[in-house]
Amino acid sequence: MRSDYCGQLNANHIGQKVQLCGWVHRRRDHGGVIFIDLRDHEGIAQIVFDPDRAESFAIADSVRNEFVICITGKVRSRPEGTLNPAMSTGDIEILGHTIEILNKAKTPPFQLDDENVHDDVKLRYRYIDLRRPVMQHKLRVRSRIIKTLRTFLDAEGFLDIETPLLTKATPEGARDYLVPSRTHPGNFFALPQSPQLFKQLLMMSGMDRYYQIVRCFRDEDLRSDRQSEFTQLDIETAFMDETKIMGLMEEMIRALFKTILNIALPSPFPRLTYAAAMDRFGSDKPDLRNPLALIDVGDLMQSVEFKVFSDPANMEAGRVAMLHVPRGGALSRKQIDDYTHYVAQFGARGLAYIKVNDPAAGIDGLQSPILKFLPDAVTASIVERTNAKSGDLIFFGADKRKVVNDALGALRHKLGHDLDLIQDNDFAPVWVADFPLFAYNKDEKNWDSLHHPFTAPATDDINAVTQNPGETVSRAYDLVINGIELGGGSMRIHNAKMQSAVLELLGIGAEEAQEKFGFLLEALGYGCPPHGGIAFGLDRMVMLMTGSDSIRDVIAFPKTQSASCLLTAAPAKVGAKQLRELGIKLAKSNKPE
Ligand code: AMO
Ligand code: AMP
Repeated sequence: MRSDYCGQLNANHIGQKVQLCGWVHRRRDHGGVIFIDLRDHEGIAQIVFDPDRAESFAIADSVRNEFVICITGKVRSRPEGTLNPAMSTGDIEILGHTIEILNKAKTPPFQLDDENVHDDVKLRYRYIDLRRPVMQHKLRVRSRIIKTLRTFLDAEGFLDIETPLLTKATPEGARDYLVPSRTHPGNFFALPQSPQLFKQLLMMSGMDRYYQIVRCFRDEDLRSDRQSEFTQLDIETAFMDETKIMGLMEEMIRALFKTILNIALPSPFPRLTYAAAMDRFGSDKPDLRNPLALIDVGDLMQSVEFKVFSDPANMEAGRVAMLHVPRGGALSRKQIDDYTHYVAQFGARGLAYIKVNDPAAGIDGLQSPILKFLPDAVTASIVERTNAKSGDLIFFGADKRKVVNDALGALRHKLGHDLDLIQDNDFAPVWVADFPLFAYNKDEKNWDSLHHPFTAPATDDINAVTQNPGETVSRAYDLVINGIELGGGSMRIHNAKMQSAVLELLGIGAEEAQEKFGFLLEALGYGCPPHGGIAFGLDRMVMLMTGSDSIRDVIAFPKTQSASCLLTAAPAKVGAKQLRELGIKLAKSNKPE
């Protein structure tokens, strides 16, 4: 039907006859001449119809936005003064000969280049939204990313193996999506939160290196980087330790950034322990583009009279830390108040600060509401420890460790952006490793896995784990780029006894463990190799590489905040017959009207 794509025409085509198909992006009537901007997935070309060809002219006159048409014509250079350098096809235009309307279109609910269309409208008419060049671009980059990853993994000997979607619950910390079974009334499949257990079984099956680009389902609160249905690049290997796995995964990510963005990421990626990440950045997913860092100061505060500082400094679970902000002295009182409100949402009860006007002038060169509470020697040590210069500012956080980390970690992030300390088009990868294996859940009064219950502890000593869960370090690692958790993985427990002990510690007794994970425990007993792997959030990867703010921009048919699809109106009610077949009776309040 076509000889060329609209967006690929350029001055080299001048003089050629072409046949083009696409959508009418815009039609303009210019003093007896009709201009049609014709759009396809490659871009836009300008077609001119003049009244000399009366029949074509009449049809061109009748088309409207988003009509699907096919034209023939001859490429010519645009007249002097009408070149459009903003368009890739801006040097040329096509003098239209024939035009055929392949399909009419109703007036679209929004103009494609209107920036202010409500998200709900765009999602309702997603097939129109996706016609926008920026959306076309994002989905193309997504496709190229997937191809590049597959090529790399294939060359490294990884097998692409599918795992079931109708399966049993996999604990990754979210609620399950359940699917009722008709053939086993009263029983339910769970959609996988990840293929975690199947990929481990594949290692026990001798597959050696597995990968899958796979849909995962998690019924959790949606955010700008979370969907209930999302895609992982899921990976598992046997007989490789974490150093080898991280090394190979780094290589893959470097190859990806080189191929897609022509960006050379560092080699090797920097590595941080969980403890160091929390100490320096108050977060286990730090944005390393941000030069600001937290500095501990508790040791100086243990015997000061200012209780706000001395109490947490003497508490085991407390922390007193500073955030040194170069040139932060320019912040106004109002701005500091605003930041104080900002950190309050993380539980901080205040945000003490010192403005450094002239560090050489000692105490007289400083300005702060807390100087009167601190001995001069302590103040001098603070300035020395931060190495603050004239015009700088030092913020303080003092509270329980978690509050200080959350508050100053978030403040660091916010200041980085507010003060333009972060280079937008830069990429800063970092591995975070040596996480604690468990986190204590105060509400439930039990231990939770920080990653998932199949993560191996750093020690093989079962007693050490069960007697000291809080101190047990895991063999897990996360890949963080620009503050986004792109992937997470670990070495797995490959010893049935250790696995049972960990499940028990998590409050999953022998009977429940048997019911939920019996197949895994059994398989561990039949020759399980040491194994480990990782899963990357593919959607997040595409977000990061296309500079998208929302995960919805990189998924063709995403769900809304409340996990519904506005295009198809899913989820939806089902008929009584179907429910009966499934042996399901709805509670009165949920019955369709
Ligand atoms: P985890 O739960 O960390 O690990 O998930 C791996 C990566 O998947 C992405 N991700 C999400 N992306 C979009 N929407 C979501 N709701 C969502 N949840 C997670 C993140 C995350 O880093 N089985 C383990 C992996 C392993 O141990 O090999 C797992 O699923 O980028
Ligand atoms: P106050 O003595 O409560 O007036 O506090 C004196 C200064 O310490 C103010 O600037 C408060 O914002 C700050 N401040 C109070 N509590 C904390 C805290 N937990 N962490 C950091 N700064 C605090």
